Amino acid sequence: MDFTTFKDRESQSFESYLEGLFSHLGKTALREAMAYSFYSPGKRVRPLLLLACLASFGFNPQLGYPAAGAVELIHTYSLIHDDLPAMDDDDIRRGQASNHKKYGEGLAILAGDGLLTLAFELILSTPVSDPTKIKLTQLLSQTAGPSGMVLGQALDLAGEGEDLSLDQVSDIHAKKTGQLLRFTLEGAGLIAQKDPDTCQLLGELGLEVGLAYQVRDDILDLTASSSDLGKPRGSDQDLSKSTYPSLLGIQGAKDQLAQSLHSCLELLKEIEKASHFDKSILESFILSLNLEGDWDG
Ligand code: IPE
Ligand code: IPE
Ligand code: MG
Ligand code: MG
Ligand code: MG
Repeated sequence: MDFTTFKDRESQSFESYLEGLFSHLGKTALREAMAYSFYSPGKRVRPLLLLACLASFGFNPQLGYPAAGAVELIHTYSLIHDDLPAMDDDDIRRGQASNHKKYGEGLAILAGDGLLTLAFELILSTPVSDPTKIKLTQLLSQTAGPSGMVLGQALDLAGEGEDLSLDQVSDIHAKKTGQLLRFTLEGAGLIAQKDPDTCQLLGELGLEVGLAYQVRDDILDLTASSSDLGKPRGSDQDLSKSTYPSLLGIQGAKDQLAQSLHSCLELLKEIEKASHFDKSILESFILSLNLEGDWDG
């Protein structure tokens, strides 16, 4: 099965699940601000990859709904905070006004805080044993927190206007974007009760997919239209960020993306060898990230 078919098959049921996530919260301005960003048209890449990974191990994707919801809650909070004037200062997100443009900075910060905290309440409803739940929650905290995504964002902020090396940019990308994707795949491995070696390989694949995803985002920041992106084009240049295209040129960045996607496919083969795993959905997702028309993988 390819990724698009999986997405078409799973999305409706997963979105219905997501619709219930705020129902226990009062009808407050805070809830409205949280819902405004969470239910806006994001691609839902991280949750869908988690669910796809479970399906590839032969599990019912519904087992992963709480963890998939949790990673999307955290991702959405990271976008709200990323757009704030004190960070990337972007006014459009997912094709609509950024959260702080609509609700003001104070409520936008709190909406992010609310989404982040709710993610930990949600992940604890994963239908697995308590020891697995502890490992899963620990992994979410480590990948999203001050040694993962939040650290990546701090390094990204500190790097504005600086001439960073490719190694430094790659490290920032692995943290700010790679770590949540690591959670996505390694977390699916934990839910599917896979052995530690397989879970580690899944984590490595998640990091590599995250690096590729961010390199692609950096290229699209320069080459795609704002309406296709649903967010402002050229934001990285405006902030003098060091990115793959700023260091290597657009073609150089595309070459690095192709190389990273190749590494992803190699890791995927290893996972297939190590475990009972149908790699077709993830393989088609990885291939879809390629920006070179003639790249044959
Ligand atoms: C945007 O992520 C931020 C990055 C890490 C590149 P997505 O491109 O997955 O954004 P949404 O969720 O579809 O809005
Ligand atoms: C942000 O990277 C990654 C996050 C953790 C939010 P970017 O700043 O490049 O993401 P966009 O381009 O605003 O979506
Ligand atoms: Mg940013
Ligand atoms: Mg940004
Ligand atoms: Mg970007």
